[in-house]
Amino acid sequence: MLSRIDKILAGNGLGSRNDIKRLLRTENFSVNGKRITDPGTLIDIEKDSIARNGEPVTLRTRYYLMLNKPAGVVTSTDDPLHDTVMQLLPPPFSAMKLFPIGRLDIDTEGLLIITNDGTLTHRITSPKSACVKSYYLETAEPFNTEALIQAQSLCAKGLELKHGFVCLPAQFERTEPQHIKTEWAFLMHICEGKYHQVKKMLHALGNEVVYLKRVAMGGVSLDPELGSGDCRELTGAEVAQLQRTGGI
Ligand code: URA
Repeated sequence: MLSRIDKILAGNGLGSRNDIKRLLRTENFSVNGKRITDPGTLIDIEKDSIARNGEPVTLRTRYYLMLNKPAGVVTSTDDPLHDTVMQLLPPPFSAMKLFPIGRLDIDTEGLLIITNDGTLTHRITSPKSACVKSYYLETAEPFNTEALIQAQSLCAKGLELKHGFVCLPAQFERTEPQHIKTEWAFLMHICEGKYHQVKKMLHALGNEVVYLKRVAMGGVSLDPELGSGDCRELTGAEVAQLQRTGGI
């Protein structure tokens, strides 16, 4: 596929489109051995070889980041009122046209995958996708043993939410508390992503979520080394795992 060289180089973190325009004038960029200065030059990154001052440039077109989203920022590329998750990305990623896969609420923390791979995003977020998302949550009230068994059975069958929507089967289990807000800690594993889904599920179970953090998605777990607000690129194995997971 043919694309403009300024777009490709900007997408590879060499700067903004204006920076690239300047770079093409001040440095020696060549395509298949021929110097180019026009930012609109069309190239095929599969076939053409690009060099910068005589050194081959390896181009990538796809980027995959794992962000540990903090509370207080919105999952959006742009928002008039709040800081967005995109503002947390460091250079060169901040200059790329990336977007989050799916959404976390403003008060939800944890794993958010950010990419420019529209095909993967579509597969993972498609209603037909079997992509499992796991959430650590703390509740306002405890579940006694009987209530927990009942809740687990309802989730496994397909929990009916307050307005009649029936969820796909989900798995609900007790887990080790991190004592962020309360001592009542659980994991919820769901394979769909309706608006406020986990909060609505807990509400339908007669309880309330007071803390929510996504800890895994599509078989990729949040890196425990990643501080709140930090991001890193996914490893090749993590990308391969996601590629296998999305879509059925
Ligand atoms: N479910 C919710 O209720 N909120 C989120 O942010 C994600 C899942």
